[in-house]
Amino acid sequence: MEIRIERTTAPKAKPADETALGFGNLFTDHMFVMDYTEGKGWHDARIVPYAPLVLDPAALVFHYAQECFEGMKAYRRADGKVQLFRPEKNAARMQSTHQRLCIPEIPVEDFVQAVRALVQVDEAWVPHTDGTSLYLRPFTIATEAVLGVKASARYQFIVIASPSGAYYAEGINPVRIYVEDEYVRAAPGGTGYIKCGGNYAASIIASEKAHQLGFSQVLWLDGVERKYVEEVGSMNIFFKIDGQIYTAATVGTVLPGITRMSCIELLRDWGYTVNEGRLAIADVMAAARDGKLEEVFGTGTAAVISPVGELVYEGESAHINGGQIGPVTQKLYDTLTGIQWGRLPDDRGWTQEI
Ligand SMILES: Cc1ncc(COP(=O)(O)O)c(C=O)c1O
Repeated sequence: MEIRIERTTAPKAKPADETALGFGNLFTDHMFVMDYTEGKGWHDARIVPYAPLVLDPAALVFHYAQECFEGMKAYRRADGKVQLFRPEKNAARMQSTHQRLCIPEIPVEDFVQAVRALVQVDEAWVPHTDGTSLYLRPFTIATEAVLGVKASARYQFIVIASPSGAYYAEGINPVRIYVEDEYVRAAPGGTGYIKCGGNYAASIIASEKAHQLGFSQVLWLDGVERKYVEEVGSMNIFFKIDGQIYTAATVGTVLPGITRMSCIELLRDWGYTVNEGRLAIADVMAAARDGKLEEVFGTGTAAVISPVGELVYEGESAHINGGQIGPVTQKLYDTLTGIQWGRLPDDRGWTQEI
């Protein structure tokens, strides 16, 4: 794929204090854009100065939400070089998302090339401070201007980049989770396994409720019986019960997280039994009562690993590992972040230098 590059003539000032970066509120000088037109395919790949989009108010994305996104990071290593973590997995997941939404697919190599090219042009925006990264947000929107529920004849695929602060600037503190038994995130046959904005729009009400009740996140149960654990907030979730690891299978209602996939590979290498399947919340609570619920953690690109200190379900509280991060959770966090930031050797071929 040929990419035309138009550099900005008015570069923005970079943040002076990388410890105050936060997440998702500051964007680099450029963005990658590529168009799709029916009959012509994906075309006109370009990197241009970061700027607002001009879209017709009738563009399909605004009405019927034919749009989707990915989330990944570029990491600065101690030797100053920058690397990506399993970008081809994000590209493949974006393809399955496009398929579900009837959006023409983007070849894996073009997706990865687009991301790499943007990181190269905005390399100076990849922060240096421990734990910081350049968050990358590829997304696709339906741009055809017509009112009608149908697959758009036009799309834009765009990648923007945002320097982000260390997720755990104040140390890893296990979070309190509310088990949501009223709202559902996903149902079989729906869109739970893809990254479309509609999933997230529909989830806001539950996280607002959880925050009002003093919790950081919600744990989602399955949409049919509201019995089996699925995900926590925007993360996959793992349980260590009596020496074995459990996580929901990614069979339609759960997003196949790249951090999840990497944790499973590491855990199996370390000799743990990882069960991907149905786990009833009732069994989790019973394990807690029996003193067998050893560790619980969420996994996702933003936090990498997020330990859970307490689960509350139907008024009952399960306290996990005395509110402290458990040893397996800690080892996964150290190993994954070690590979991502280049502190540990990558003998699995997970990283890709820019
Ligand atoms: C709903 C949901 N589940 C799980 C994840 C974790 O996926 P990943 O590890 O690829 O970031 C995310 C974040 O992308 C998410 O939004």
